[in-house]
Amino acid sequence: MRPLIVANWKCNPSTFADAKKLFTAVDRGAKGKRATAVICPPFVFIPGLSALKKKNIKLGAQDAFFQEGPFTSQISAKMLKQFGCEYAIIGHSERRALGESDEIVNKKIKAVVSAGLCPILCIGESGQEREEGKTKEVLERQLGLGLKDISRFKIQDSKLTIAYEPIWAIGTGNACDTDRAKEANIIIRKTMTRIYGKSAANKVKIIYGGSTNPDNALGFVKEAGMNGLLSGGASLDAKKFIAILSKF
Ligand code: 13P
Repeated sequence: MRPLIVANWKCNPSTFADAKKLFTAVDRGAKGKRATAVICPPFVFIPGLSALKKKNIKLGAQDAFFQEGPFTSQISAKMLKQFGCEYAIIGHSERRALGESDEIVNKKIKAVVSAGLCPILCIGESGQEREEGKTKEVLERQLGLGLKDISRFKIQDSKLTIAYEPIWAIGTGNACDTDRAKEANIIIRKTMTRIYGKSAANKVKIIYGGSTNPDNALGFVKEAGMNGLLSGGASLDAKKFIAILSKF
């Protein structure tokens, strides 16, 4: 599998001029790289960035709403598709912390799949859940509910990616060690196999996110068997993000 390296810019940068600079620098730096690079900027920058004729990177969104109509402030998967988005991050822990439930995550995944975008479903345990030994239970629950009533065929066609993002590792500089990431990877693959069968489960990409940087990037793929990374802070620095891409 070609590694998938996703940049989640979160609520950054504050100006479109800076977004443009970062986007074009990454596009230039991604030339000839083996990994697929996906940039997920804030919604408002998507139309402008998609007009820039990128050559070496793909566009994604940080969320997508499941319905159109009287839903103030929301942006639908279909709208994103029109502006060249190919991926959508769904269920990020920073959104779950604002009240997004597994049921909403499930509706969003379904909407993203039917709009023809590739969903990146984020799952991961909190520090407390980890200490209480509940990692497996949390991952199984988030997968089961997040993907509820989505058929094996849809999963196969959607190019689903699961992002394992332990909450305690996000933005802390304290990345998960590769042994633990490997354990989570195995739990996720086994759970997907149980739900969808081996052939569909093996097509799903499993990536890691949480304090990734150019020094630890390769370990998550080589040692933990991940199929790529979801990078936050490091993706806001073109040099660092290109250095991560260059590892593969
Ligand atoms: P950091 O790389 O800043 O820890 O963020 C990870 C993340 O939340 C990506 O979605």
